[in-house]
Amino acid sequence: MKKIQDILTERFGAAFEAAGYDASYGQVALSNRPDLCEYQCNGALSAAKKYHKAPFMIADEVLAKAMEEPGNAGTFRAQVVKPGFINIIVEPAFLADYVEKASCDPFLGIEQAGEPRRIIIDYGGPNVAKPLHVGHLRAAVIGEAIKRLCRACGHEVIGDVHLGDWGLQMGLIIRELRERKPDLIYFRDDAPEDLSAYPEEAPFTIGELEEIYPFASARSKEDEQYKAEAMEATHQLQMKRPGYYALWQQIIKVSVADLKRNYERLNVDFDLWKGESDAEPIIPGMVQRLKDEGIAHYDQGALVIDVAEETDRKTVPPCMVLKSDGASLYNTTDMATIVERMDLYHPDEIIYVVDKRQSLYFTQVFRAVRKAGIVGEDTKLIHVGFGTMNGRDGKPFKTRAGGVMRLESLLDEIKEEMVRKIRENKNVREEDAEATAEIVSLSAIKYGDLSNQASKDYIFDTEKFTSFEGNTGPYILYTIVRIKSILERAGEDAEDAPLLAPATPEEKDLMLDLAKFGPMIGDACEELAPHRICAYIYQTANDFNRFYHATRILTEEDPARRAGYLRLLKVTRQILEKSIDILGFGAPDHM
Ligand code: ARG
Repeated sequence: MKKIQDILTERFGAAFEAAGYDASYGQVALSNRPDLCEYQCNGALSAAKKYHKAPFMIADEVLAKAMEEPGNAGTFRAQVVKPGFINIIVEPAFLADYVEKASCDPFLGIEQAGEPRRIIIDYGGPNVAKPLHVGHLRAAVIGEAIKRLCRACGHEVIGDVHLGDWGLQMGLIIRELRERKPDLIYFRDDAPEDLSAYPEEAPFTIGELEEIYPFASARSKEDEQYKAEAMEATHQLQMKRPGYYALWQQIIKVSVADLKRNYERLNVDFDLWKGESDAEPIIPGMVQRLKDEGIAHYDQGALVIDVAEETDRKTVPPCMVLKSDGASLYNTTDMATIVERMDLYHPDEIIYVVDKRQSLYFTQVFRAVRKAGIVGEDTKLIHVGFGTMNGRDGKPFKTRAGGVMRLESLLDEIKEEMVRKIRENKNVREEDAEATAEIVSLSAIKYGDLSNQASKDYIFDTEKFTSFEGNTGPYILYTIVRIKSILERAGEDAEDAPLLAPATPEEKDLMLDLAKFGPMIGDACEELAPHRICAYIYQTANDFNRFYHATRILTEEDPARRAGYLRLLKVTRQILEKSIDILGFGAPDHM
């Protein structure tokens, strides 16, 4: 729906024009004096310079013209204040009508894209056989929110996990397993080519796998010979040596099952479970073309694409396609993945939600694929780079012992804290405490992350994030639960009555918030900025709680008023629930 602000801008633009001035002076903004008015138009001040007239005279003329329009009187009231501001207040009945329309819209007033874009979001980026750690949390949380946000605006979005499933880490595991379990069929020289000839069951558990990888990785740093063998194993895997390839598939299978379980707990899901390995077959052809067309050239043995541009303020080094030993790299895989994505999906946009420390890297890759003609002008490539999640000491988040924190442990820790809090208050039945704690802790973690602008580093503060007060996920859920419980107590009377014109400032403030929902989502999508949604729901929750404390809802004697209040509660709940759904979490019934 059109913003109230834009409706007012149109009306004032017309009034400026009717009074003989340029319509562009009619721009209306949110008020910076909310104590005096809701919106304001400052156009007369700038018009004064152009037309050599006192600003308040212009403002007077414009307002007089505006009020001649029959439609305007029902929409707003306005007043000229010196030196020439026009202060505007929306008519309560107009506001109620606006929110009524938005709430009856199947999209709650979220404008649906006229030309939906096909968007691929590359997020998550976990590495096979390595446990998810908190570094992967932000990619998952922010990526999921952006995916849902774009979908809410009517775009077609494909989420791809883009597994790190290729390269040396796989060779290390194979090398180590070979030593530990040499008798496995996978290591036989006559290992069968036919994949169905191998046992169904993997020769390790996820626990073993997660122990093997760091062990092998550490060992390779001390033992040259071992490392060389791991590299050789990687090479043989890449050549599809039958036993190794079958073993690799087992590693993927076990690892992906575990990853899925973890992501599910985070309420994160992907449409595609593709990995770096899927791009592998595309690489030779791509490299050949880059060479043939003179896009890439050899520099000290390595194949590179120059991507520097004249306007660069910092040097952007060439994008390396092949190392001097002929091996492909992270860059090569990402480029080949783009080739595949363009081929299969013809996306209008590819969004990468990856640590901002990779921003130079993405600049190189994006420029390289454009230069190579792999991506044309009508496809946007965007890197949403996020900052680091720090501990309370301001350093990257660690366990108490100083190690890398597993994502699961973090989730468990927060949940434990929540169970304790929830048991303390008696609103939740004992048997529901665990499940409720799981829901509330997810809100604590996700909201704590998403309420910060993605590109900034932030401090993960367990105490603050799990608090039921302040700008936190649990506070938002608490507000929703409060609304649910009032509606529940109201019982069957809570019919869908029309919204009434707000009668008190608190009620009006809440409605003004609700009126901003659809446009706010549109802006958040435009900017790929979930933190805007958090700021919005915090304000709305605060305004709701103010309204709640100032108003006797259930004991209101006028039945029409009471019904109007209940309807307002319903709309508030709908909008808050839709917002948190876009952010990727939900609310319990009690807490
Ligand atoms: N697997 C990588 C890591 O753990 C992240 C992948 C990001 N996505 C991409 N297309 N490069 O750092």
